[in-house]
Amino acid sequence: MKFFVDTAEIKDIKDLNETGLLDGVTTNPSLIAKSGRDFKEVIAEICSIIEGPVSAEVASTEYDGMVAEGEHLAKIADNVVIKLPLTVDGLKACKHFTSKGIKTNVTLCFSANQALLAAKVGATYISPFIGRLDDINLDGVELIENIRQIYDNYAYSTEILAASIRTPNHITEVALAGADVATIPPAVIYKLADHPLTKAGLDAFVKDWKSTGQSIL
Ligand code: G3P
Repeated sequence: MKFFVDTAEIKDIKDLNETGLLDGVTTNPSLIAKSGRDFKEVIAEICSIIEGPVSAEVASTEYDGMVAEGEHLAKIADNVVIKLPLTVDGLKACKHFTSKGIKTNVTLCFSANQALLAAKVGATYISPFIGRLDDINLDGVELIENIRQIYDNYAYSTEILAASIRTPNHITEVALAGADVATIPPAVIYKLADHPLTKAGLDAFVKDWKSTGQSIL
């Protein structure tokens, strides 16, 4: 499963990129607002750090505006992916970008039917929001399972990008459900490496090694 980081914070992106764990980046208007920075500058900077796909979301909610904004954003760098909302206008804009060979990420997906529509217009990625479904007592992981089944039934190539990930358990669950990608907040990526037995075991090895008085170098 590919890992994208869901952030507009350059330091987090640089640090994670150095770990070798990162396959791409997603941003959204809320993350850009949180960064306090100019949107297009941030996207250009991220694209200079990351070779993989970098999702940049349109602000317009009408087809013409989405197309104009998306075409502008796509010129920033070759790895920009145009992120579009799952509305009829967004799907129509997705079709436009697909026909031009520009990659798309259809976002704010909360149902299997919505995911089916995104695949039909050739979306590169569909972003089901797991955490926000869990927040209202629905089952985000079940949605990933259903989309996986539907896409496999018809051999759709749209990749399932599990979004709104909140916990390390979400990662295990969406990986088991067959998501192609998860976009994850930086803190959750680091938590995936934690285990109390790893920590306790390493502490013991460090102590015992010191007691030998040896040095490897
Ligand atoms: O990028 C979209 C998504 O990951 C948002 O997550 O936590 O705001 O629901 P969240």
